[in-house]
Amino acid sequence: MTIWHGKQVFLTGHTGFKGSWLALWLAELGARVTGFALPPPTTPSLFAEARVAEVLHHIEGDIRDAAVLTAAMRAARPDVVIHMAAQPLVRQSYVEPVETYATNVMGTVHLLEAVRQTGGVRAVICVTSDKCYENREWIWPYRETDTMGGHDPYSSSKGCAELVIAAYRRSYFDPANVSAHGVSLASVRAGNVIGGGDWAADRLIPDIIRSMQAGKQPEIRSPDAIRPWQHVLDALGGYMQLTEAMLAGETALADSWNFGPSDEDTRPVRAIVDHLTALWGGSGGWLAPLRAQPHEAITLKLDCAKARLKLGWRPGIPLDTALASISEWHKAHDAGADARTITLEHIHRYGRAPAERGLGTRVTT
Ligand SMILES: NC(=O)c1ccc[n+]([C@@H]2O[C@H](COP(=O)([O-])OP(=O)(O)OC[C@H]3O[C@@H](n4cnc5c(N)ncnc54)[C@H](O)[C@@H]3O)[C@@H](O)[C@H]2O)c1
Repeated sequence: MTIWHGKQVFLTGHTGFKGSWLALWLAELGARVTGFALPPPTTPSLFAEARVAEVLHHIEGDIRDAAVLTAAMRAARPDVVIHMAAQPLVRQSYVEPVETYATNVMGTVHLLEAVRQTGGVRAVICVTSDKCYENREWIWPYRETDTMGGHDPYSSSKGCAELVIAAYRRSYFDPANVSAHGVSLASVRAGNVIGGGDWAADRLIPDIIRSMQAGKQPEIRSPDAIRPWQHVLDALGGYMQLTEAMLAGETALADSWNFGPSDEDTRPVRAIVDHLTALWGGSGGWLAPLRAQPHEAITLKLDCAKARLKLGWRPGIPLDTALASISEWHKAHDAGADARTITLEHIHRYGRAPAERGLGTRVTT
């Protein structure tokens, strides 16, 4: 039995890609999850396909509405709050900058205010992004201490959210004074998270899968862009390991954290396209978009030395294995297999691995 058994978890964004994976995983571990989010952002969605609403208390709500969010959190009386709800797409943020800032920045303010007004919360994880850093287009990976920034509204909104979280930590949730307020507040910055069951528009893996399913070549905007690709279970495993450590009293860990892949898995988009299309049985190649595209950073790498050294975390799924598992997930789904069964199978396969690697064993009950 793990520390999650019987824990009340308030999870925002549970109708999304990462939130659905996490909700299923936490429910498997015996956590009692309340999910708070808008309806699933895509059709199809992992949330609907895997019937995630059956494993938690599902609330449809908007984090831009502070009163509704606070009332839902107070009713849930959570031990742990994991904040994932966001407008998470760079290109959409160019179309809807106001909505993006309202959701990603003020939504985070509302969430932290709700924590202040709820009482009893012990650990808060706010999910921001690797894009929160001021991108200097250099070859070096970003560290947690680097400057916040962002060229486009999405990246900038995540940098802003990080500043909000840091201010709340200093002002209300000081790690040196946890005995007074009770809350450990951390932010987590994952890489480009990939996995089965993502149907988002304008994201590389879903774009490739959709094209393969239609027997077409994918349209690829930036084949030379370099990103820290990471399987969803590695990112979520990092969030969970950090939460477990904070719940176990390691309150000095209430800070910001990068969770990304190893160096060799920080690769250009073209390598992902070639590998995934080959796995699918396609002939490779891609089409360049016909219209000019908005700016997106070219090089983005994450330095994860802090998570490795201070938390004992490291990625467990190499990129080639991650891509194979995505191909396997979608082929099984296309063949009619149940999405929840496939997803849980992947979770169970991964769940054994952390213990074998000496991870996930820091906290048990
Ligand atoms: N997927 C990635 O590669 C990646 C990488 C780094 C960080 N992130 C971050 O991880 C989190 C989850 O991303 P995802 O890929 O699962 O995105 P997603 O689009 O699949 O899910 C987003 C979730 O947020 C909810 N949401 C959006 N606006 C809301 C609002 N106003 N009120 C309440 N709920 C709202 C949606 O309903 C959905 O549940 C986001 O914070 C995102 O910025 C994602």
